[in-house]
Amino acid sequence: MEVKPVKGTHDIIGNDIILYQRIEDALAKIAHTYGYLEFRTPIIEHTELFARSVGDSSDIVRKEMYTFLDKGNRSLTLRPEVTASIIRTIVNNKLYSSQDFPIKASYLGPTFRYERPQAGRYRQFSQFGVEAVGLDSHLIDVEVIALGYNALKNLNFKDITLKINTLGDDASRNQYREALRGYFAGHIHEMCIDCQERLNSNPLRILDCKVEEDRKIIKNAPRIQDFLSEQSKERFSKTINLLDSLNIKFDLDETLVRGLDYYSEVVFEYHYIAPDGKTIGALGAGGHYSHLVEELGGPNLAGVGLSFGVERLAQVVASENLLFDAFPFLAFYIMPIGEVNIEKVYELNEKIHRLGYPSEMAYESKALKALFKKAEKRSALFAILIGEEELEKEMLTIKNLRTKEQTSVALADFDSVANQMVEEELIELNEER
Ligand code: HAM
Repeated sequence: MEVKPVKGTHDIIGNDIILYQRIEDALAKIAHTYGYLEFRTPIIEHTELFARSVGDSSDIVRKEMYTFLDKGNRSLTLRPEVTASIIRTIVNNKLYSSQDFPIKASYLGPTFRYERPQAGRYRQFSQFGVEAVGLDSHLIDVEVIALGYNALKNLNFKDITLKINTLGDDASRNQYREALRGYFAGHIHEMCIDCQERLNSNPLRILDCKVEEDRKIIKNAPRIQDFLSEQSKERFSKTINLLDSLNIKFDLDETLVRGLDYYSEVVFEYHYIAPDGKTIGALGAGGHYSHLVEELGGPNLAGVGLSFGVERLAQVVASENLLFDAFPFLAFYIMPIGEVNIEKVYELNEKIHRLGYPSEMAYESKALKALFKKAEKRSALFAILIGEEELEKEMLTIKNLRTKEQTSVALADFDSVANQMVEEELIELNEER
């Protein structure tokens, strides 16, 4: 019997991998541009790591973790996010001991959440992210926000909505929590079970509730702005002023609280709304954290970071055709014609590979119609037709598959001609878009 993939997981096969590779390359490049080095941490961690960082009151820890006992009776969890693992390794390796701050890490890899699968929501998905630890300043907060913004620009996203809010410092948040408890206590019997549970554990999370009836009550709840300490107000205004001067557009969203418990001060999310009005949730998100390093056994160091969901990026990039050159093409498809010495054709194909061009050949001569069909299926730019006559004269017939123009090129000139032909054709295709 056929074995199906696990619900909420997906295979990336065929041409899709080229799209993912292009996106992942662009993300790695932007991390490098800002001086972040990749950290590779294990996918399995002690369950305690996430309970202590992401937080016992978060949906992730309460409902969504893949947790199991290993054969040594240890409670292990497939990581639902990567920030906690990065901080763990910074603490384990005492990367803070040189006092060279901020410590900058980037990461890319699979994460797991037991969520209800739907468009843009998987049980195994990949996160790219960065974390900057040890510098407690709006300067580094803005750097991370700008990095995310520029990552999306590099992937040709045009209409990005950057939502931003502040959760204030501990004192501001404690006061705000009490005010929320007081306000919601009078309404909680009309609200959903999740909100009822959140009233005690973390009333801030009630602000994130999506239930329509609850939203009406949430609309009149106290606002964080009225509880911010002077320092938090000043920090946030410096943050948004710097974003303004970098020309990064944002929407202030007072209801943005984020689903993980470790945040304080600035939090943000990047959203994309398709031309048809559809959205697949946040493409990426992040924020500042004051106590995570300490809670995981390290010194009192602040940090800030963000993560993107790679599948969500890929979905938009594919549907909006944002990365034209990510779509697979062959530069050349080589067609042996008639009774031709196939080894000689093979040698030419190998020569083209050594020049660095994607090329494939038909391993036997077939009817021209079938060969052209294959070339089209492979999105080849050019066909190279080689029969006995071409081999004898050391000439190649090269056909542009878009314009149907045909040229004869001496085999000896192929290196230089091929380069020019491919470059020019890519420019033409780009302009045609
Ligand atoms: P998060 O908002 O839980 O934050 O996840 C970050 C991104 O991962 C989301 O914006 C979304 O694109 C993607 N994502 C989340 N769940 C799914 C899912 N089920 N299927 C597909 N994509 C998903 C964090 O994980 C924090 N660690 C971000 C951070 C880094 N904060 C500070 N540093």
